[in-house]
This record gives sequence, C-alpha cells and structure tokens, in this order.
Amino acid sequence: MKTIASVAQMQHAVADLHLAGKRIGFVPTMGALHEGHLSLVKQCKAENDCCVVSIFVNPTQFNDKRDLSNYPRNLSKDEAMLQSAGCDFVFAPTTDEIYADVEIDKPFEFDFNGLDKVMEGKFRPNHFNGVVQIVSKLFSIVLPNKAYFGEKDFQQLAVIKYMTSTMRFDTEIVPCPIVREPLGLAMSSRNELLSTEERKIAQNISKVLFESRNFVNQKSPADIQREVIEQINGIAALQVEYFEIVNGDSLQSIQNWTDAPYIVGCITVFCGKVRLIDNIRYI
Ligand code: PAF
Repeated sequence: MKTIASVAQMQHAVADLHLAGKRIGFVPTMGALHEGHLSLVKQCKAENDCCVVSIFVNPTQFNDKRDLSNYPRNLSKDEAMLQSAGCDFVFAPTTDEIYADVEIDKPFEFDFNGLDKVMEGKFRPNHFNGVVQIVSKLFSIVLPNKAYFGEKDFQQLAVIKYMTSTMRFDTEIVPCPIVREPLGLAMSSRNELLSTEERKIAQNISKVLFESRNFVNQKSPADIQREVIEQINGIAALQVEYFEIVNGDSLQSIQNWTDAPYIVGCITVFCGKVRLIDNIRYI
C-alpha cells in the first residue's frame, strides 16, 4: 500500500493503472475509519483490480467550524486499518493541495434539482455544495470505474448519484448497506465523540426505528413519524432534529405507503452534543 499526498502523483499513478488496463475502485472518506468504511474497502478491493481510498477532511462541507475542528483525525491508525483491508493507494492530500483559497470562501455552485432542499440540506446550508465540490474534484483526479458510498448517508448517496449523472462521470456508484454495532447503532466516525454512557443511550435510535417498521400495515406515515419522534425525544440526552419518511428516489415526503415503490425514514438525532444520522427502509 502506498500513501500519496500530491494531486500530480495521484494522477500519474491513476494514468499508469488505466494504461495497464486495470479497473480502479474508489472509496472517498474523511478518515477516522471504522468497520463501516472497511466493509466498503473490502467490497471495492473484491470488485476492482486496484482500490484507492482518499482521506480528506473536507472544510467546505462543514457549516459549523467547531464541528470541523472537532472532527477526529488519526492518519497512521487509518493507514494500518486500510493496509489490513487490502487497500492499494491512500490519497491523503492537504487542503492547499486540493483547494485554491477562492474556492474555500464561497459555496460551490450546483443545481441539485431540489435534492438539497430537504432534511440535511435544510439544517446544514451549503453542506451538499461542499460534498459535490470535493467528490467531483476527487473523481476528476482518481477517475474511478466504480465508487463506493455507505447508505447511512442516504441523502448524500442520492446527491452523488445525481451529480455523477449530470456531470457525466464515467463512474458507477455502488451503494453499500449500513454497518451497525452489535446493539444496532449505525457505525459513524462521530460515535468516537460519544461518552460510554451516551453510546449506550444512542443504541435506542435504531431500536425505535426498527420497532416502527412493525406498524407499517396499521399506521399512517404521519403517525409513525410522530411516534418515532416522541419516543426518541422521551429518552434523556436524545433530541431529534428531523425524522422524515420519504420517497427513496426523490427524497420528497410521502403521505401514504402507496405513494412510492421505495420508502425510507431518515433521522438526525443529537445525543448530547453529537449529531448522529440513521435511516430505515420501510418499503
Ligand atoms: O461521507 C463522507 O465521509 C464525506 O462526505 C465524503 C463523501 C468523503 C466527501 O467528503
């Protein structure tokens, strides 16, 4: 495994691989890796000749500067995990290597066709502009045949699929299932910021979501939405920011279970000061 920090060196390595007819799989990350990331890396390695993982804490997707400075960073630990998962190249550039100053100061312009107006987009203004900005840059550098994204960030996945198609990237987007801790908490780099007590409490988020699935035949989406919010807010230290039951393709809210062939409940909950997200497929 080789770690590369420069864009030019990464581009050379990619050019050599494409010339040799190798298929490149790509897993973009912000580091602080956990089993969820490693499952993407293993799948990527199994489906491609070469696996590239980027580690870059992207400043333009953080709307809260404290969140950016608190974000966990540990390159050498990440490298050891990636080595054992079979990664071939780690691309770990500095911010200056990726961005000109002018790019950091203003939001990247992109028409999301409404995908950015709901859920995360409502609560994190310009977050997806930053995600599209960095992922499109990384795709142009790594030129992957396939790129792997976790379904935990459900709205991000929808945005990336849309971006890949409108920007005409020749990259297949591969969605990968949520990896959960044994008691159900969706794996996330942010879980490292939870105290032991908070981590126990946070398990209730998935527990309530899973239980709510049993009532799809008896209750309306609006009733399930209200009850999930009430139950989670009833647990000390948990505070729901939003819980929306949406069409899994358009991300628009639904009124009836027959409104879409694919229906997902997306939630964001504060556990103490830590913002956690999760989702569940209903239909
Ligand atoms: O999901 C993430 O970790 C980030 O949003 C991504 C896709 C690596 C872009 O910075």
